[in-house]
Amino acid sequence: MWPDEAACAASAQRLAAHPGVRRAFIELHGTLGAGKTTFVRHLLHALGVQGRVKSPTYAVMEPYEMPGFTAWHFDFYRFNDPQEWEDAGFRDVFATPGLKLAEWPEKASDLLPTPDLRIAIALGEGDRRHVSLAALTPLGRELLS
Ligand SMILES: Nc1ncnc2c1ncn2[C@@H]1O[C@H](COP(=O)(O)OP(=O)(O)OP(=O)(O)O)[C@@H](O)[C@H]1O
Ligand SMILES: [Mg+2]
Repeated sequence: MWPDEAACAASAQRLAAHPGVRRAFIELHGTLGAGKTTFVRHLLHALGVQGRVKSPTYAVMEPYEMPGFTAWHFDFYRFNDPQEWEDAGFRDVFATPGLKLAEWPEKASDLLPTPDLRIAIALGEGDRRHVSLAALTPLGRELLS
């Protein structure tokens, strides 16, 4: 349970403390305004990204280059053409080591690999969010523990 955004930030900071997060693929599920981008923002800032972390809804993908590793933030909300997967180079991105974060992964589910972690955020009263985390790989279990 995240009673407020500070709790979301604290979860992101705890996850960022694990070195394995730098090679994880994390799916973020939840309705509009649940807090997927907010969690990504806190996670990327905790990993050293400086400046603005914007919602990639229109660009579908935002890359972040950091000393020692790269992160990619996807938002598949408007993704509807599987050809775009090839054309935009997403296949190559998923074959490259680094952190991948995906909002609305269900819109590209046929193309995406199995995530290490699946985070589902549900709206509660006010700022309250009900959050569930599932590990689907050994790396995911390591991150979760
Ligand atoms: N406990 C909380 N955890 C996360 N965000 C919160 C919380 N309480 C309030 N918020 C606010 O909820 C909003 C969540 O918006 P955000 O853009 O992160 O949603 P989203 O899940 O990415 O939606 P979309 O599907 O449109 O991309 C932000 O304005 C954030 O400040
Ligand atoms: Mg978002």
